[in-house]
Amino acid sequence: MHASVMYHVSPITATLLRSEPLKCCSCGRRHLLAASSSLISFPSTPTDVIEKIHARRPDWYEEFFARAMDQDMRSYEAQISGYKAKLFPHLIENSKHVLELGVGTGPNFKYYARADKDLNVIGVDPNKKMEKYARKAAAAAGLSPAGFSFIQGVGEALPAADNSMDAVIGTIVLCSVEDVYQSLREVKRVLKPGGLYLFIEHVAAPDGTLLRLAQTALDPLQQLLSDGCHLTRETGKQISEAGFSNLILNMTFLSNVSLISPHVYGIAFK
Ligand SMILES: C[S@@+](CC[C@H](N)C(=O)[O-])C[C@H]1O[C@@H](n2cnc3c(N)ncnc32)[C@H](O)[C@@H]1O
Repeated sequence: MHASVMYHVSPITATLLRSEPLKCCSCGRRHLLAASSSLISFPSTPTDVIEKIHARRPDWYEEFFARAMDQDMRSYEAQISGYKAKLFPHLIENSKHVLELGVGTGPNFKYYARADKDLNVIGVDPNKKMEKYARKAAAAAGLSPAGFSFIQGVGEALPAADNSMDAVIGTIVLCSVEDVYQSLREVKRVLKPGGLYLFIEHVAAPDGTLLRLAQTALDPLQQLLSDGCHLTRETGKQISEAGFSNLILNMTFLSNVSLISPHVYGIAFK
């Protein structure tokens, strides 16, 4: 379901992505109207939008990373499973339209997939090599094939209409997006009023700790080897500042994956 999907780009996103500056009128103010009318000439294919935000990677690298995520994250998944098992039941009730941001190989489906026809899940990821793994995970978790679509896309320009989603899920993905604040704006844009954003993210260790020193030193290598993943982001703070109406945010340390510890996890309501 790639090209056939209607691609929605919010005026804010479009403005951010435009290469030429906005036109000003004689009063010197930027006009929102100008921004929205520019949507007509805005690069309209998903590929254009994706590549502007997430530089194209060679096929072999995308395949390598997708396979590594599929095979090497098992011990991580085992460690985080208790937290997922507590968080995901909040999502199941009344959620029909769910979007997973940076869905990867689909390790979360088993916590919320239902075989009923009502559940509609959109998995968004710039790495198209994730799709086969995500589809397999969706089927294994009992999600009906008609209920799952994989869309190649990015968090900074989510392929969904305003106020259309009951829930957005993002697990260890804001470490990898290009622009965390823009991705959070997009999460809020696509959520229905009262909709929930369920997140689990690894964040920087406290300042002055040995772990933080190690994260800072290894951050460039991590980005290179793990497709842009950052070790030192303050994602919990950024989620707190994103203007959700209600936020439940917890922090935990995972002992076996110390370099990508601590984690913040919780639920934010639009
Ligand atoms: C560490 S993986 C996590 C995947 C999955 N959420 C999980 O819990 O295993 C990070 C994912 O974010 C995706 N990603 C990278 N940049 C992104 C962006 N700008 N928007 C959305 N997803 C992105 C990667 O392709 C990858 O699938």
